[in-house]
Amino acid sequence: MGQTLPKPALRPFLPADVPVVAAIFASAIEELTGDDYSEAQQEAWMAAAEEDEFGRRLASDLTLVATLDGSPVGFASLRGNDHISMLYVHPAVSGQGIATLLVDALEKLSGGRGATSLTVDASDTAQGFFAKRGYTAQQRNSVTINDEWLANTTMKKTLGAPQ
Ligand SMILES: CC(C)(COP(=O)(O)OP(=O)(O)OC[C@H]1O[C@@H](n2cnc3c(N)ncnc32)[C@H](O)[C@@H]1OP(=O)(O)O)[C@@H](O)C(=O)NCCC(=O)NCCS
Repeated sequence: MGQTLPKPALRPFLPADVPVVAAIFASAIEELTGDDYSEAQQEAWMAAAEEDEFGRRLASDLTLVATLDGSPVGFASLRGNDHISMLYVHPAVSGQGIATLLVDALEKLSGGRGATSLTVDASDTAQGFFAKRGYTAQQRNSVTINDEWLANTTMKKTLGAPQ
């Protein structure tokens, strides 16, 4: 008989989560984005978690933490009513529906706050994930993080529309 896999759960982010969430952020970038970004770009991106502003941003956005057996394994943030500002899942549990659970919840919260559409500046790594959920590309962007230029794509989904 196989063991039953633990079921993921969601809870609000707490200030005490900053170290574990920063570790998930760094591992996700380091292990999952290497096909799309150079090592220098990954390092610049990962270093964003070392800044004081990182915890403040998570707290000022609506941030949800996904847990497995009570341990955080991923997180996602909603800025205002209608923008996904963060989505990171630990590589050890990627492909198990954790991001799906997080984004399902953010879409419901966004709709509950009155938004009719939701945007995200998707990394090249995450673009396929969002496309599968019905987000469409609006524009390419280049952002500087710690002196490195990184490309992403603004994507948009009309809430309530079929996927
Ligand atoms: C993108 C990311 C959040 C996906 O997390 P995840 O928990 O592995 O995603 P899920 O398991 O919920 O995937 C759901 C579906 O999307 C697909 N999917 C996931 N990542 C994908 C990708 N990069 N490209 C295409 N499809 C993808 C899965 O195959 C799955 O499809 P299925 O339902 O047919 O099986 C994760 O890979 C990650 O943290 N990446 C690095 C950080 C990053 O780029 N964050 C985004 C910043 S905007």
